[in-house]
Amino acid sequence: MDTADRSQRDGSMDWPPIHRAPTLPPILGDYDATRATFTWAQARSELDGLPGGGLNIAHEAVDRHATGALADTPALRFVGRDESVSTISYRELRELTDRFASMLHDLGVGRGDVVCTLLGRVPDLYLTALGTLKTGGVYCPLFAAFGPQPVRERLALSQAKVLVTTSADYVRKVASARADLPALEHVLVVDRAAPDGAVALPDLLAATRSTVAIAATTPEDPALLHFTSGTTGRPKGAVHVHEAVVAHHATAGFVLDLRPGDIYWCTADPGWVTGTSYGIIAPLTHGVTTVVDAADFDAKRWYRTLAESRVTVWYTAPTALRLLMRAGDELPHRFDLSALRHVVSVGEPLNPEAVVWGERAFGVPIHDTWWQTETGAIMISNYPGMTIRPGSMGRPVPGVDATVLARGEDGRALVIDDHVTELDAGAVGELALRPGWPSMFRGYLGDDARYRACFAGGWYLSGDLARRDRDGYFWFVGRADDVIKSAGHLIGPFEVESLLMEHPAVVEAGVIGKPDPIAGEIVKAFVTLRSGFLPDDALRQELITFGRHRLGGLAPKEIDFDQNLPHTNSGKVMRRLLKARELGLPEGDLSTIESRP
Ligand code: WT7
Repeated sequence: MDTADRSQRDGSMDWPPIHRAPTLPPILGDYDATRATFTWAQARSELDGLPGGGLNIAHEAVDRHATGALADTPALRFVGRDESVSTISYRELRELTDRFASMLHDLGVGRGDVVCTLLGRVPDLYLTALGTLKTGGVYCPLFAAFGPQPVRERLALSQAKVLVTTSADYVRKVASARADLPALEHVLVVDRAAPDGAVALPDLLAATRSTVAIAATTPEDPALLHFTSGTTGRPKGAVHVHEAVVAHHATAGFVLDLRPGDIYWCTADPGWVTGTSYGIIAPLTHGVTTVVDAADFDAKRWYRTLAESRVTVWYTAPTALRLLMRAGDELPHRFDLSALRHVVSVGEPLNPEAVVWGERAFGVPIHDTWWQTETGAIMISNYPGMTIRPGSMGRPVPGVDATVLARGEDGRALVIDDHVTELDAGAVGELALRPGWPSMFRGYLGDDARYRACFAGGWYLSGDLARRDRDGYFWFVGRADDVIKSAGHLIGPFEVESLLMEHPAVVEAGVIGKPDPIAGEIVKAFVTLRSGFLPDDALRQELITFGRHRLGGLAPKEIDFDQNLPHTNSGKVMRRLLKARELGLPEGDLSTIESRP
């Protein structure tokens, strides 16, 4: 059945529901009963808080476990590229992050200052994140695979005061732009050989003599800054506050089923929101051991990590699952995956085949979850113990109300005098959430207009198209806008187009997500050449290399030449039409365009 067809139907008819008795009584035992009585105030009471009513994420994640029964439990278990294993206990994590905070304090970094990392999944990243939160600063991760362009753009937008990175990345991606980054006072490199303009982090940490108390942050103090992308304009910095930890903690209970004793692996990179909310904060607040693998995807290695670390709960992504499926059914059976209790996925559409395959490969189906950088935490989910309808994102987490809104001509929710219309079961519309959960973003940094445009009629508009079925399960249909999802990473076409237009051969570019069986979508660019340039393979290759060099992981994988890019009346490139042509769809009916692989 083709995908457009499936979206019109109740997907539960296509794939039989899966009900599997959990091996442990789940934290969320009875969805309806919990939903009926749950309050965020009650979720908040499960955390410590600071004396005097303050709240600090790092206290909830680290300090409160550093004395008492969990003190010697490994908080982080690092698997190095060479597969060597090292651990940091909760007690050690407290000491190391205290020292990091003191070092930042010595540098004059404090409340509200932005500290960025440009690092792989190494211990220093975790110490920077938690140490920054202890000072009352704002932690902002930058994805290590970004090229110089996106890194500089985000450093400038965030007004970062400190960057923690490697010498090599500093020299290649930042150093020559330093003059354009006046707010960036300190570059700390994790290796000892600091290049000009940077200081060696290990030396600074060793020299720290001060001991500063954790900052008395309030729940509404900014804590995290995550960049995300829209259809137009520059990247958007979503601001989250310390109160977000209430949602991180509660959802990690309901959805991930985490409890002390668990060995938990979140495969998302902390450069993206999943890798921070659920790769750093949420598991630590539950006192579990979090596995961190420095290396990139490799099927055998991943099964080995699951087996050798005795992972009990695994939070991963559809692209990775599809790659594992491709590696075959026999491979997982060569490893002892008996510890694995619960498998969860996020970030892009999870095809029902993958949900069902999970049962064959791991003995547990895969539980899809839906949320966004802006929501800060899981909003819609399948729960252990609840019947799964393969292909559905599940039901809203307790404390969150979701709906589907009627659309206007532009494909987004139709708003008339700040009124919107909720649709009944079965109808496709824009997925919306009732604001009020603790990890709701509090703004886009320096862009109030864009923030306000996310709300109408008392709802937060997600930009996704979905429908719900009669039992309140939500089904993802596609994006209402042109942003691209490639291997789970959200990519703004505008950022890619702008870069391509910096190349002397390019007059104009239109960038789309081209469906891909593994990555969901890949970035594809259509470019119009300046006269005098020949549309040949050499130029195509040059543009691909140019993109890769400047954009890194955001770069287009495919480039087509097109001297007649379609335009709207206002002169914008019509990406939807490019996509329709690419897919061989009728150009008149763009509503059928979906990103489900
Ligand atoms: C967009 C948000 C989720 C945190 C990491 C990504 C897409 C997310 C699903 C899902 C289909 C999904 C949506 C959403 N998305 N989860 N289960 N099924 N699509 O956060 O980078 O802000 O991306 O990812 O389009 O809007 P993000």
